[in-house]
Amino acid sequence: MKTITLDIAGALGNVISEADVNALRGEADAALDKLNNGTGAGNDFLGWVNLPSTMGINLIKDIEDTAEQLRKDCEVVVAIGIGGSYLGAKAVIEALSNSFDKNQKVIFAGQNIGEDYLHELQAYLADKKFGIIVISKSGTTTEPAIAFRLLKEQLEKQLGKAEASKRIVAITDAKKGALRQLATEEGYKTFVIDDNVGGRFSVLTPVGLLPIAVAGFDIKALVEGAKNMEEFTRNAGEYNTAELYAMTRNALYRAGKKIEILVNYNPKLHYLAEWWKQLYGESEGKDGKGIFPAAVDNSTDLHSMGQWIQEGERTIFETVISVEAPNNTVVIPTDEANLDGLNYIAGKRVDEVNKMAELGTRIAHIDGNVPNLRITIPALTEGYLGEILYFFEKACGISGYMLDVNPFNQPGVEAYKRNMFALLAKPGYEEATAAIQARLK
Ligand code: PA5
Repeated sequence: MKTITLDIAGALGNVISEADVNALRGEADAALDKLNNGTGAGNDFLGWVNLPSTMGINLIKDIEDTAEQLRKDCEVVVAIGIGGSYLGAKAVIEALSNSFDKNQKVIFAGQNIGEDYLHELQAYLADKKFGIIVISKSGTTTEPAIAFRLLKEQLEKQLGKAEASKRIVAITDAKKGALRQLATEEGYKTFVIDDNVGGRFSVLTPVGLLPIAVAGFDIKALVEGAKNMEEFTRNAGEYNTAELYAMTRNALYRAGKKIEILVNYNPKLHYLAEWWKQLYGESEGKDGKGIFPAAVDNSTDLHSMGQWIQEGERTIFETVISVEAPNNTVVIPTDEANLDGLNYIAGKRVDEVNKMAELGTRIAHIDGNVPNLRITIPALTEGYLGEILYFFEKACGISGYMLDVNPFNQPGVEAYKRNMFALLAKPGYEEATAAIQARLK
């Protein structure tokens, strides 16, 4: 059976040896044990660990039915959410969609507070039959709340309150938060985000699954792929690739490689990297520690960031995600005049050239002292995407415990919110408002 694989050979050499990686085996096993047995910090947020294997068939069916109804009723559905309530669905939908499809079924809002973005969105929806999936675990996040208030008003003006409420689905906490209260009062269809699943680990809950299903993709296959990876990474040992990834990146970090660049050679993976950045950034960046997660899209970024990566400060390593087989075939044609000099690759598939760009870069970067890890996905399908999502989640939990942080909280995210609320004079922030205004005088 094909599965995603991890190759760390390109990371071994000048900076770390195989022995350095293997020396972390005990730490990785202990970290995995904490995840499996719920004995580590943040253990009230481990609901994601067994999520794929315990997901009820009724829940999947409810999500599929709700998605089907939204697809029938709406030309377009706006998924409103930010951070973990946005990036997982966006990553999967981007990876599986046609890059040039102008009639996307799912579009996103609430992930920024750009006035022009929201204005353009309202204009785009003005003559369309649309629906809304509003997603917020806390139910109190400002960015999605603003987008929802605007679009709810627009939908109610278009359809009237009663009809509009049939096209709105809320995904939030079972009891707490303003969104739960609003959904109850307005009679929206709702899905629950369980207390024990944090935002950035929620892609395999209705948070990710409903928008993905509305976009027309097979969520059963996605969960099945994740379930396979749950199985592969359950037990400690040399075949556990999540442990190996966590061990290798921690060995590199301890050897001075403070930045990890996630590299793809397929533009459809741009948002997978954005999801990964949140997962690792919020999970590990605390207590003055943590690898800085960065990302590039190659070969595009070889023409912008390539110089830095090849010859800049040697504090980086890279993890390449390589898609083994594209879903389509494009062959480079022969041209009799050959004025562009490309006949030497005529007859080759575009992917063959892409793979040579990848291999050439890998060799150059290893020569340039950039350790290289390589994850291969057999193809961009729901199943393999489910595998890689779960793989990164599991490795993140292991890696965070190896770093000796609580991988499941995000206290730092609150700092900007406190200041923003104080600056906007939110009720309850009177003292903070006075203090921040005094600082700005
Ligand atoms: O990982 C997290 O918990 C956060 O990044 C959240 O996903 C993000 O802040 C959105 O929160 P909420 O779903 O409560 O609106």
